[in-house]
Amino acid sequence: MKTLTLGTSPLTCTRLAYGCWRLAGSEGGPQLDDSIGMAAVRAAYDAGYTLFDNADIYGRGECERIFGKVLRDTPGMRERIVLATKCGICPPRDGRTHCYDSSSAYIIESVEGSLKRIGTDFVDLLMIHRPDFLGDPADIAAAFAQLRAQGKVREFGVSNFRPSQLATLQKHCPMPLLVNQVEVSLAALSCLDDGTLDQCLAERITPMAWSPLAKGALLGPGRDEREQSLQALLAKIATEKNATPAAIALAWLLRHPSRMQPIIGSTNPARIRETVRADAIDLSRGEWYSLLTAARGKPLP
Ligand SMILES: NC(=O)c1ccc[n+]([C@@H]2O[C@H](COP(=O)([O-])OP(=O)(O)OC[C@H]3O[C@@H](n4cnc5c(N)ncnc54)[C@H](OP(=O)(O)O)[C@@H]3O)[C@@H](O)[C@H]2O)c1
Repeated sequence: MKTLTLGTSPLTCTRLAYGCWRLAGSEGGPQLDDSIGMAAVRAAYDAGYTLFDNADIYGRGECERIFGKVLRDTPGMRERIVLATKCGICPPRDGRTHCYDSSSAYIIESVEGSLKRIGTDFVDLLMIHRPDFLGDPADIAAAFAQLRAQGKVREFGVSNFRPSQLATLQKHCPMPLLVNQVEVSLAALSCLDDGTLDQCLAERITPMAWSPLAKGALLGPGRDEREQSLQALLAKIATEKNATPAAIALAWLLRHPSRMQPIIGSTNPARIRETVRADAIDLSRGEWYSLLTAARGKPLP
C-alpha cells in the first residue's frame, strides 16, 4: 500500500487505516468471540495496514483488549504500526449519565486504561473523540503536554471537531494537532463544504474518514431511487476497473487532495485483504464528479 505522513509529523503509515470498533461485535449486535476480532486484526496486519484506530469506548474496552492480545502474540508488530486511540466519551456507569469529558484528569486516566488493556508503554496518536462542551482548551493542552513528557503519547489529534473547535484547541496546544477524524463518505458529504477539509488542506492536518462505506449502507440494498442510482454507478465503475464497489467508494475518498485516510471497519478477513486494492485505483475527474452527483441525488449548480 502507498503511505502518507500524518499531518506535519514524522509518523508515516498506510493510506488506508484499520478501525477496531467492531472487534468485539457491532453495536447492538451479539458479542463476538475474541478469535473473530483477533483474526481481523491479523488479516489487516498481514495485508499491510499500519495504522490501527482504537478508542477506550469501543466495546467498553473490549476492543483494545482484543487488539492487545494480537499485539502480544505478534513479534515486531508494535514497532511497525502507528497505534492510535481516542478518549473523552464516557458511557453511562454507576448512575453517571452518558457524557463527554475532556478534563485533564479524565484524559490521563483514560490513557492509563488504554495502555493497560493494549499492553503497551505508549500510543503513537491520541485523539479527543468528540468535542466536550465543558472542556477547557488550556486544561486539555496541559494533559497532552504531561502525557508527551511522560512518553505515554507521541502525537495528538481530534475527532468530530468543527474547524473553529480545532482552531481553538490548537491555539492552546504546544504541539500540532495532526488529524481530525470525521465522518465522510459518499453518504456523508458535509465535510466537503463545511470547512473541515479546507482547514485540513490549509493547516496540513490529515482527515481520517470514519465509516467510509457508511457502515456498509453504501453497498446496498438501496432504500430509495437516489441510493439505488449511486449503487448502480459504483457497480458500473467497479466492473470497468475490475474492482469491487467498496474499493471504488474508498478510491473516491482517496482522490481528495487533503490526502484523506479512510478507516476500514470490516471484520471479514477476505474483505479486509480485498480493500487494499482501493489504493491502486485512479478515478478520473469525470468519474469522481459523477459519483458526487449521484450521491447528492441532484445535479451540481
Ligand atoms: N471517531 C468516530 O466518532 C468514529 C465513529 C465510527 C467509526 N469510527 C472508526 O471508523 C472505523 C470504520 O467504521 P465502520 O466500521 O462504520 O466502517 P465502514 O467500512 O463504513 O463499515 C463497515 C461495516 O460495513 C460492513 N460491510 C458490508 N459490506 C461490506 C464490504 N463489501 N466491504 C466492507 N465492509 C462491508 C462490514 O461488515 P463485515 O464486518 O461483515 O465485513 C461492517 O459491518 C471504525 O472501526 C472506527 O475505527 C470512528
